[in-house]
Amino acid sequence: MTNQRDAGRMSGPVPPARRGPSPVLQGPSRAGASPGRGKARLRRDRGVEANARLIGATGLVLLIMLFAEGVTIVGIGSHLSWHVAIGLALIPPVALKLGATSWRFARYYLHDARYREAGPPVPLLRALGPVVVVTTVAVLTTGVLAWREGPDAHGMITLHKLSFVAWFAAMAVHVLAHTLRATRLTLADFGTRRQRAAAVYGPLRQGLVAGSLVAGVALGAVYFHLPADWAAWTHRVGFH
Ligand code: HEM
Repeated sequence: MTNQRDAGRMSGPVPPARRGPSPVLQGPSRAGASPGRGKARLRRDRGVEANARLIGATGLVLLIMLFAEGVTIVGIGSHLSWHVAIGLALIPPVALKLGATSWRFARYYLHDARYREAGPPVPLLRALGPVVVVTTVAVLTTGVLAWREGPDAHGMITLHKLSFVAWFAAMAVHVLAHTLRATRLTLADFGTRRQRAAAVYGPLRQGLVAGSLVAGVALGAVYFHLPADWAAWTHRVGFH
C-alpha cells in the first residue's frame, strides 16, 4: 500500500458517487467493500496504470542491477572494471525511472484529475522520493567523475563513498516498501487479457525498459576496460 488513496480506501466505505463505474476509479484496497474488488483495481485510469507499471518494471530491472553492483563492492580492487561497467550501465534505466516518476510528479502537481485521483505516495515515501532521487544522482555522478579523474581524485572518491552511504539508507526503505508492488505491477502486463488491457502502451513501455537495459549494457561494455591510471592503481594495490 504505497498511495494515500489506497490507505484512505482501506478504512472507509466508498462514497455513493463512486459505486458506479468511473474512468478513474482506483483502489485495490476496499477489501470486503465489494465482491468486485479485482474489477475495481482494473478500472484505474489506463494512463495512470501504465505510468505505474513503467515505474515498477524499471524498478525491478534496477533492483537486479543494483544487487550486481553491490556484489562488486566486496573486494572492489579485483572487481573495479565490473563496478565501473555496471555503474555506467545503471545510468539509462535510472534516467528512464526518473523520467517516469517526474512525469507522474508533474501530472499530479499540474492537477491532472486522473493523477490526483490516484493520489500521492504515502507520507514517508513521498518525503523520501526526493532523497532517493538526489542521492542516486549524487552517487552516479561522483562515481563517473572519480572514474574520469583517476585514483588521485581523493576528494571525489570520498564524496562517492559518502553519497553511497546516504543513498543506501534511502534506497533500502524504497526497495522494502516497493518490491512487492513493483513485482505485481510488472506481472500485470503478462497476466490476463483484462489485466493487460488495464494499462495503455504495453509494447512501448516494454520496449523502453528493454531499450534502456540494452543501452546500459552497451555503455558498460564500451568502458569495461579500465583507463590506464586505474589499471595501474589496481596493480599497485596488489589486486592483480
Ligand atoms: C535506483 C534508483 C531509484 C530511483 C532514483 C527511484 C525513484 C523513485 C521515485 C522518485 C518514486 C516516486 C516516489 C514513491 O512513490 O516512492 C518511485 C516510486 C516507485 N519505485 Fe523507485 N527508484 C529507484 C529504484 C527502485 C527500485 C530498485 C525498485 C524496486 C523495488 C523501485 C520501485 C518503485 C515502485 C514500485 C514505485 C511506486 C510506483 C507506483 O505506485 O506508481 N524503485 N521511485
